[in-house]
Amino acid sequence: MNAASSLPPILARSEPAPSAPREAFFLAALALTDFRTYPRLRFELPAGPGLIALTGPNGAGKTNVLEAISFLAPGRGLRAAGLQDPTRWGASPAAPGQRPAWAVAARVRGPAGTREVGTGLDPVATAPERRLVHVDGTPARVQGRLAEAFAVQWLTPPMERLFQDGARTRRKFIDRVAVGLDSLHAERVQSYEQAARERIRLLTGPAEACDPAWLAALEARMAETGTALACARIAAAEKLDAACLGSRGPFPGARVAMAGEIEDWLAQGPALAAEERLARALALARGRDAATGATGAGPQRSDMAVRHTLRDQPAEQCSTGEQKALLVALVLGAADVLAAARGARPVLLLDEVAAHLDRLRREALFASLLDSGAQVWLAGADREPFESLSGRARFYAVAEGAIEPLP
Ligand SMILES: Nc1ncnc2c1ncn2[C@@H]1O[C@H](COP(=O)(O)OP(=O)(O)OP(=O)(O)O)[C@@H](O)[C@H]1O
Ligand SMILES: [Mg+2]
Repeated sequence: MNAASSLPPILARSEPAPSAPREAFFLAALALTDFRTYPRLRFELPAGPGLIALTGPNGAGKTNVLEAISFLAPGRGLRAAGLQDPTRWGASPAAPGQRPAWAVAARVRGPAGTREVGTGLDPVATAPERRLVHVDGTPARVQGRLAEAFAVQWLTPPMERLFQDGARTRRKFIDRVAVGLDSLHAERVQSYEQAARERIRLLTGPAEACDPAWLAALEARMAETGTALACARIAAAEKLDAACLGSRGPFPGARVAMAGEIEDWLAQGPALAAEERLARALALARGRDAATGATGAGPQRSDMAVRHTLRDQPAEQCSTGEQKALLVALVLGAADVLAAARGARPVLLLDEVAAHLDRLRREALFASLLDSGAQVWLAGADREPFESLSGRARFYAVAEGAIEPLP
């Protein structure tokens, strides 16, 4: 029996999950400056949420548009790019003494009304390089303020390796859900990783430069932020698990849970006890960590475990097609979780999703997206896979730094 024939018939949900709101975040206008292939793009969008299909030849700049939108959330965008990478090659600085810098601005509508949000590379600061964030014309130091004004979830071709890649990729996936639930999560992760890097630098550097008090302070910070971020990941995974439990038409149900030593500690006792255990484990592991140059204990050892409920097996043991269906289910589930937490559906960015699904799943996905009331950006080289959306989605042609509406 092949995988497809064992799946249930289409039961495309006509209603979103009961807790999922009908309201949605959506972009009403988007402006890119020196962002990858776009010297300057100003783009007004149809009023209200709905499906937007970007088509155009390979290399036209479709993914670049989705990436620009993904920068309206904390983090490094859907390509996990370096901060300078999106700056258009050959761009000129805006003022003497500055360096060329990309910028993305958007008018965003959500439950709290209309917000003008903007972000980009700081053209002045170089060491360290910085990302600037503006919300309603006010500079925001914390990327978290972006997360409050907007919510976005994406699915891109590299994510199809989610279940084959290392655990780091899966932790990044659950981190994005956690950031949507609590915008401080991104800072916690950053603070933990910074302290962990600094600790390894001390441990692997000259012995006389390794100040024990500084080392202990770093480990205390790692224990505190590490436990807090593990708790946030567990909470996000529990919500994702509940949202993904049932199948969505041809997309299977999934069980999701964080798995690792720190999760075991947190299951056994209070968070404070887990924090103390982590601090002890770090202190005990100094010799080993100095030798390996890596942190042996803590949340960076944990994984997001996903099971295919129909197959009743771990995602990594599923077929390629089953994994794709599972990934779509996870992304739709994550969108439901964000929607319930934020009171409005996140914008969805789906890159090349149509080309990678069979017709049955593609049509079920479109039906569910149309039903959801979300703003969904679909990108694909050819129009053909989107043909059934004619009259139900806005089509745009992308070419040479411009976007033109199609009939
Ligand atoms: N910083 C940059 N400045 C200018 N161009 C860039 C920059 N970074 C990437 N590019 C160019 O952007 C183009 C890729 O754009 P994009 O990935 O959006 O294409 P696409 O339309 O999604 O194509 P495909 O259908 O192959 O996925 C490439 O030609 C690449 O060389
Ligand atoms: Mg692309």
